[in-house]
Amino acid sequence: MSRIPFIVGNWKMYKNASSAMELCDQLRTGIRTAGDREVGVAPPLALLPLVQQRLENSRIRVGGQNVHPQAEGAFTGEVSAEMLASVGCSFVIIGHSERRQHFNEGDSFLGAKLLAAFRAQLDPIFCLGETLQERESGATEGVIRRQLDKALASLTPPQASRIIVAYEPVWAIGTGRTATPETAQQVHHLIREYFRGLCGIEGANRLRILYGGSVKPDNVDGLMAQPDIDGTLVGGASLNAADFARIVDYRT
Ligand code: 13P
Repeated sequence: MSRIPFIVGNWKMYKNASSAMELCDQLRTGIRTAGDREVGVAPPLALLPLVQQRLENSRIRVGGQNVHPQAEGAFTGEVSAEMLASVGCSFVIIGHSERRQHFNEGDSFLGAKLLAAFRAQLDPIFCLGETLQERESGATEGVIRRQLDKALASLTPPQASRIIVAYEPVWAIGTGRTATPETAQQVHHLIREYFRGLCGIEGANRLRILYGGSVKPDNVDGLMAQPDIDGTLVGGASLNAADFARIVDYRT
């Protein structure tokens, strides 16, 4: 089964109104996709409407970096899935390791966020991955399974097969130390096998699994050549239009 690759730039807490506009303009002219791949950017919350407007009628999708489970309420500083959808977002990143680590977001809370994304018709990109210590102690598989078990507990199998998974080994994020294509493929294969057990062969074959962690123009081709890598979630290199355009334009 063919899956449409999805290349996403996570801008994290970088850019301001004017530098974001500049990057949007550069992306509009620099990114040439033949329609065989999807492209998205996830700017900081405050810049979402600006970026959405600036990318209007381009093929670049816009998404949020985080979401609260509730549709509305007294949750100062938070944003709901409905609000993201109302400013033109079509996807949202959930469970990034920086949210887990610095904001103590746990797997069950992340499960509620997945449901919120579905409620507002946003595609959730669910991030998971092991720390260096977990990898070195041989715990990678157990960690991945536990993260999936807990976050997916309240989803039906058809819902589970509609999420997008992003495998982001914590030791590869922002370190310049990317997973080798073989290492990433091993974990992606394991994730697909997990989904096969949960939603059957068809659901598992439909599932898009992105890789994130120091993806750069010079390593993207090898990663994307792997059978179970269906796209990338790019941090640092997505802040530079030429680098991001080259990553979108990966060749296998
Ligand atoms: P880097 O590409 O900067 O390593 O960041 C990866 C990431 O966290 C994307 O969500």
